This record gives sequence, structure tokens and C-alpha cells, in this order.
Amino acid sequence: MLFTVVQRQVEAGLIGLAITYALRLTDTLNQVNRESADRETQMVSVERVYAYVTGVAPEAPLRIVGTSQQLPRSWPSRGAIKVDNVTMRYREGLPTVLNGITLDIKAGERIGIVGRTGCGKSSFLSTLLRLVELQSGAISVDDWDLAVLGLHDLREKVAIIPQDPAILTGTVRFNLDPFSVKSDEELWTVLEKSQLKSRVESAGGLDSKVEEGGGNYSVGELQLMCLARALLRRQATGGLLLLDEATSALDADTDAIIQEVIRSDFSCTTITVAHRIQTLLDYDRVAVFDAGRVVEFDSPEVLLKRETSAFRALAREGGVSADYCPAAKS
Ligand SMILES: Nc1ncnc2c1ncn2[C@@H]1O[C@H](COP(=O)(O)OP(=O)(O)O)[C@@H](O)[C@H]1O
Ligand SMILES: [Mg+2]
Repeated sequence: MLFTVVQRQVEAGLIGLAITYALRLTDTLNQVNRESADRETQMVSVERVYAYVTGVAPEAPLRIVGTSQQLPRSWPSRGAIKVDNVTMRYREGLPTVLNGITLDIKAGERIGIVGRTGCGKSSFLSTLLRLVELQSGAISVDDWDLAVLGLHDLREKVAIIPQDPAILTGTVRFNLDPFSVKSDEELWTVLEKSQLKSRVESAGGLDSKVEEGGGNYSVGELQLMCLARALLRRQATGGLLLLDEATSALDADTDAIIQEVIRSDFSCTTITVAHRIQTLLDYDRVAVFDAGRVVEFDSPEVLLKRETSAFRALAREGGVSADYCPAAKS
């Protein structure tokens, strides 16, 4: 290059310009590279959205024109549940988790469910809310087949305290009453019943913050908050209450208080998955689950008396004596 300059074939200025641009070109190429790599990563998100839109079956409709209007507002005013030979699997290709569950639950009965971890207790409660659809069989509540209902029509009538407390980021008020239809007084009443009043007061009241996943409350307190929410939603008559190891993170004393609240404040049909057999001893009937089947379904006294019953074995493990007599309890 120097030679061409010396030879005066090209102007020195032009050469300088060429060199400057040549250096800049590397930068530009680098940037092109970086941008195209970026676009490629971002296209993964597009791919994912596409997979959700085309590959995941949508949930059933939330309301069904016709049915939603026909369903009585007071449904389920009795709360009689018929479960007929229900089988369920979580996805195509997975084994069935419920293998022919049949239960006839009378209006207002209090039913306990026990069984080893993984035997399908939580899965059974999910089918009552249609979080997972049935493979075969049917469930009806007060003679309405759940399969014909819109999901909102069904779910807004069922109160549940789930195994993992479902808590939303927001305020205490939002978690108890997301649609803002209850008065402050009602909210404080249910908080008091759930033993949370002083905790919420010291946190700053109904509009104090609940962090993501309820991070600023203990698991036990979150379970109590779910109880308060369930108390708020209970119907004047009938209704359904589902409890899935709802008090597992509470100490025995608080558990006892909560069981008492559930007994006195909910007159509706109650299905309780319990880890403490003690809580089920005064229930009307207990279903023992094993590998997605009901192996025993009778009153706790009858099951405790039967030498060979699985309930008796579970009760013994839980420290309940086999000759427990509910009449002697109170
Ligand atoms: N979301 C899910 N997807 C696939 N399998 C699941 C899911 N939830 C639970 N299972 C399986 O279903 C079976 C029953 O689980 P679950 O009903 O939670 O038992 P339990 O509440 O009696 O301990 C287990 O084998 C579990 O692995
Ligand atoms: Mg469970």
C-alpha cells in the first residue's frame, strides 16, 4: 500500500479512509453475528408458544350456554356425591392412577380418605374439581353429572384446602376474596376463626402484602389462610368442602382447633384426606385407598373393630388404639 502511495497511484487520504472502514467492518460483522444468535434464541419462545397453541388440548368451557342457566343457583344444595367406577390417568401413555373408584356419599356426610402416599387420594380430589378429566366412569353431585357442567359453574361451588396452599402474590384481602364481594367485617371474622387475626393485624391489616408464593408466611399460616378462604365461600345450605392434608403443617393443638371450626362451621358434605388418623375417628365413614382403588369404606368404629382391616393397621401406626370408642371420647 505504501508502495502505491509512494508511486502516487492512489491518494494517501483514500488509503487512510479504506483502513478506517476495514477496521469498522469487523465490528459490524460481529454485531450481525450477535444479533442473529439473539434472534435464534428468541425464536425458541415462539416455538414454545406454537407448541402450546397447537399441541395442548384446551380445558373444557368455563360456562356452557343453556346448562349454566339451568343449574340451580343453590346447587349443590344437598351435596350427595355418586362416584361410579371412575378411572383416570394424567396423560395418554401414563398408567391409570385411579382404577375403578366407586363411592356413594350421602348428603352432608363427613368422609375421610386415608392410604399410603401415592395411592391416588389427591388425584381423586382433582377429579371432583375436574382438574383432570376422567378416563371412564362418572361423578355426579345432586344428580348433576359433573362432566356436563362448565368448569366455573363447578369450581365456584366447591371449597378446597389443597395439599400445597394456593396463594397468590398480592394482598391478604386479594387472597381471601379476589372478586372483592365481601365486607371487611366478614374477612376479619373468618380470619379470627382461622386463628390468623393477630398475625394479619401485626402484618399491617387486610391490605398488607403477601409475597410471591406466600414467602412472608409459614406453610401452616398459608394453610390457615386457605381455611379462611374456604370459610368465606361456604354456602348457606349444602355445598362441598374438600380438605387435602389441609392441616399437615400445623401443630396438634392448632389442628384440633381447626378441626373444631370445620365441624361447627361447615354443615356441608366434607371429604377429608387426613394424615392424622385421629382427626377421622368421629367421621361418618372412612375410605381406605390402595393403588387407586377403594379397599375399605365403612364407619371408623366398624373398621377399627375388624381385625384384618387396613384402617386398623394404619390407626395402630398412628398411635390410635384398636378399641377406641368414639362415645368415650367426648
Ligand atoms: N400431575 C401429575 N402428573 C402425572 N402423574 C401424577 C401427577 N400427580 C400425581 N401423579 C401420580 O399419581 C399417583 C397418585 O398421586 P397422588 O394422588 O398425589 O397420591 P396421594 O395424594 O395419595 O399421595 C402417584 O403415582 C403420582 O406420581
Ligand atoms: Mg396427596
